[in-house]
Amino acid sequence: MMTFKDYYDNTVQLSFTDHPFSTDPRHVWVLCRFKEQWLLTEHPRRGIEFPGGKVEPGETADDAAVREVFEETGGHVAELRYLGQYHVDGKGGLIVKNIYFATVDKLLIKQRYYETNGPVLFEELPEGFQTDKKFSFMMKDQVLLESMKYLKEKELV
Ligand code: GTP
Repeated sequence: MMTFKDYYDNTVQLSFTDHPFSTDPRHVWVLCRFKEQWLLTEHPRRGIEFPGGKVEPGETADDAAVREVFEETGGHVAELRYLGQYHVDGKGGLIVKNIYFATVDKLLIKQRYYETNGPVLFEELPEGFQTDKKFSFMMKDQVLLESMKYLKEKELV
């Protein structure tokens, strides 16, 4: 278990074990690969980030991950793998989020993207993205760095 502060100085706990904070998390975040590239989305207010969002009533967290990737990027998830979970003690209350790794096999170019400006692709995340205001606060704490490290250790990327 790792504990650190996020961009807004909220306390975050992160673990790559099996659902350490909740078996029924209400939020998901999906690190996506499409053809050897990272697939992200541009949120109109927060900036560039990996897709994700809230689990809807009647949906599982895995379903939400697949749905959010499609809504926010047009990407069709071919393979979804649970990586870990984090817990944020934020001003608006506690949130628990599942982190996934997804392989996308098709990217549908859509006329409109739900709540975003659509897909953004990178071969490598650009140098300095953690201090770049074009990127979302979600990209700016240890969750992403530790998840990337975990993916490399597991030889998934
Ligand atoms: P809507 O999506 O518009 O409903 O916004 P919201 O800000 O109410 O949503 P949400 O419940 O997703 O987030 C509540 C607060 O939790 C945010 O303002 C952040 O402070 C924090 N939070 C949500 N997601 C993350 C995340 O991935 N990382 C970190 N560090 N904090 C997060």
